Amino acid sequence: MISNEDIEIPYTPVSVYQAIFERRMTNQFTADSVSRGALERILGAAHWGPNHHLTEPERFFVFSGDSDVRDEVADLAWQEKYESVSNPNPGQKKKSADDARNRVLSAPALVYVFSVPGEKEEITRENYAAVCCGVQNAALAAVAEGLALTWSTGSATTHPRLRETIGADSDWEMVGAMFIGKPEVLPKSYRTDPSERIYWLD
Ligand SMILES: Cc1cc2nc3c(=O)[nH]c(=O)nc-3n(C[C@H](O)[C@H](O)[C@H](O)COP(=O)(O)O)c2cc1C
Repeated sequence: MISNEDIEIPYTPVSVYQAIFERRMTNQFTADSVSRGALERILGAAHWGPNHHLTEPERFFVFSGDSDVRDEVADLAWQEKYESVSNPNPGQKKKSADDARNRVLSAPALVYVFSVPGEKEEITRENYAAVCCGVQNAALAAVAEGLALTWSTGSATTHPRLRETIGADSDWEMVGAMFIGKPEVLPKSYRTDPSERIYWLD
C-alpha cells in the first residue's frame, strides 16, 4: 500500500484552474510521442481519483507505439464506423471508416479505460463514477504535461470483439478511450453561464 504522503508529487507551474480551463479535447495531435514517464504520471493521477470503499475499479490498456494488436483494434474501429455511418454513399462511408482507423493508429498514445463491476448494482455504479473522476484527473494531468487528452466513447470503443482483442474481461464496463498527445491546435470551447445551473438555497 502507498500513502498519499509517500507520493513524489510531480512539479508543474500549471495551476489547477489553469488545467481545468485550458483543457481541451482535440483530434489533432502532432507526431511527437508521449514519454513513458508522462503516461505513468497521467495514469497515476487517474488512479488517485476518489473511489468509494477504495475499490480501485479502473483498468487501463495502453498503446504508446505500433503493434499488431493496435492494428487489429484499428480494424475493429473501421468496421464499427463503416456500419454506423448513416450516409448510404459507399465512398463517404469508407472515408469515415478510414478516418476512424487512422485516429486509432495515429494518436501518440491511446489508453482504453474500463470499470470493473461491484458485488451489487450500487457499487458498480459508484465504480463507474469513480473511473470517470479518474479520467478527468488524467485529462488535467495531461494539461500539466503540455498534452491534451480526448475522451471518446465512439467507434474505437464499441466493437463487440474489442475486449477479447486487448485482453479485457467481458463484464468490465467500457468507460472510454483516451487519445493523448501534444495538441496541434486547441479548439475553442463553449458553455452556458454556470449560474443557469446553480440553485443557491441560502
Ligand atoms: C463520456 C464522454 C464521452 C465522449 N465521447 C467523445 C467521442 O466519442 N468523440 C469525441 O470527439 N469527443 C468525445 N467526448 C468529448 C466531448 O465531445 C468534449 O468534451 C466536448 O466537445 C467539449 O469539448 P471540451 O471538453 O474541449 O470543452 C466525450 C466526452 C465525455 C465526457
